[in-house]
Amino acid sequence: MSTMQKFVGWIDERFPLTSSWKTHLSEYYAPKNFNFWYFFGSLALLVLVMQIVTGIFLTMNYKPDATLAFLSVEYIMRDVEWGWLIRYMHSTGASMFFVVVYLHMFRGLMYGSYRKPRELIWVFGMFLYLALMAEAFMGYLLPWGQMSYWGAQVIISLFGAIPVIGNDLTLWIRGDYVVSDATLNRFFAFHVIALPFVLVGLVAAHIIALHEVGSNNPDGIEIKKHKDPVTHIPLDGIPFHPYYTVKDIMGVVVFLMVFSAIIFFAPEMGGWFLEANNFIPANSLKTPEHIVPLWYFTPFYAILRAVPDKFLGVVAMGSAVVIMFFLPWLDRSKVKSIRYRGTLYKTILTLFVISFIGLGYLGTQAPTGLTTDIARVLSVIYFGFFLLMPWYTKIDKTKPEPERVTG
Ligand code: HEM
Repeated sequence: MSTMQKFVGWIDERFPLTSSWKTHLSEYYAPKNFNFWYFFGSLALLVLVMQIVTGIFLTMNYKPDATLAFLSVEYIMRDVEWGWLIRYMHSTGASMFFVVVYLHMFRGLMYGSYRKPRELIWVFGMFLYLALMAEAFMGYLLPWGQMSYWGAQVIISLFGAIPVIGNDLTLWIRGDYVVSDATLNRFFAFHVIALPFVLVGLVAAHIIALHEVGSNNPDGIEIKKHKDPVTHIPLDGIPFHPYYTVKDIMGVVVFLMVFSAIIFFAPEMGGWFLEANNFIPANSLKTPEHIVPLWYFTPFYAILRAVPDKFLGVVAMGSAVVIMFFLPWLDRSKVKSIRYRGTLYKTILTLFVISFIGLGYLGTQAPTGLTTDIARVLSVIYFGFFLLMPWYTKIDKTKPEPERVTG
């Protein structure tokens, strides 16, 4: 026995090293037909790690103080060695996190990955999405630019629309009568410590749930139904390591090429990833003409503005997110994957995608009578997708699923 084997043996007697490696990697059997859409889970993991690492380095020079915050970010950009790269990796990383997570969620939608027995993977995913939104919102206040300040002001004031407790609640969140140094300090604490812990914990729960039931696949059928009678290995499964570790590295390489191109050539992405107004220090006496959140929040922002009453608008915006939690129980189709669904479902899914992107666009624009009307129509489609799902998935003319996975 080599020294290495002896060492691993010593560890195994005290810690489940080899058995964990086998359960989660070398003997975790994943369906052999994963496609492009299956890259985004591992990419979300990569971006999470990147955000944490670049965040640690930013914290070394950032000052969470209303008089110094903006200047400390400028200092990072101009004077700290490689500071501009770390900052752009973090700010571009935030947007790319949402790009990757939205594509990841859409994959779940297309292949019915949220359906039994994977409901909890989806629910943990939804909590991840909520935590990610809170993380991005609080992080955005930290550079203390005009849009940081006024964005936070607008979003926090929405809680004021809640009857009875509204005013006290906004005061409690801000720690002051306006967004101030107290707000900046607590957002810093949440952004840097509390929420990253929540995110990492939820990712662990997400993956543990996934490995308990096994991955879904583009055919939406269970590979565990057909196992080798002797080895009990799923016939359509392949070991995650080395096959998918190598495949995922390919995805990482392509992602890093796109990511670098954005960081080096268009870090602000024409205002989509970093807004021009945020290069102006926060000024509590001067409200910017258009206060808009970054693109990943705008579909919900458009729903908020589409409702005339402020409180009902807040309720609609909240419901637009919360309703996604219930997807596993709203879908009554006989099949999971889009491949075997009928024209009705495909049409409605297409309308949903159009409504989400359309609302996202309208949320970035100053509202006019016409755009508000369009936003109302799109909001109805958005909610219709979920609320009518038990009905249209039932009457949709599906195709028979294959017994074994196809190409
Ligand atoms: C930080 C954010 C997230 C990370 C790091 C993450 C990570 C992962 C990973 C590594 C996988 C396995 C690989 C794959 O199937 O792509 C996975 C699967 C899955 N994730 Fe996530 N995820 C995140 C957010 C979400 C969100 C927001 C949702 C939906 C609300 C979600 C729903 C799912 C589902 C349903 C699966 C199983 C897919 C299948 O087997 O077809 N995830 N996730």
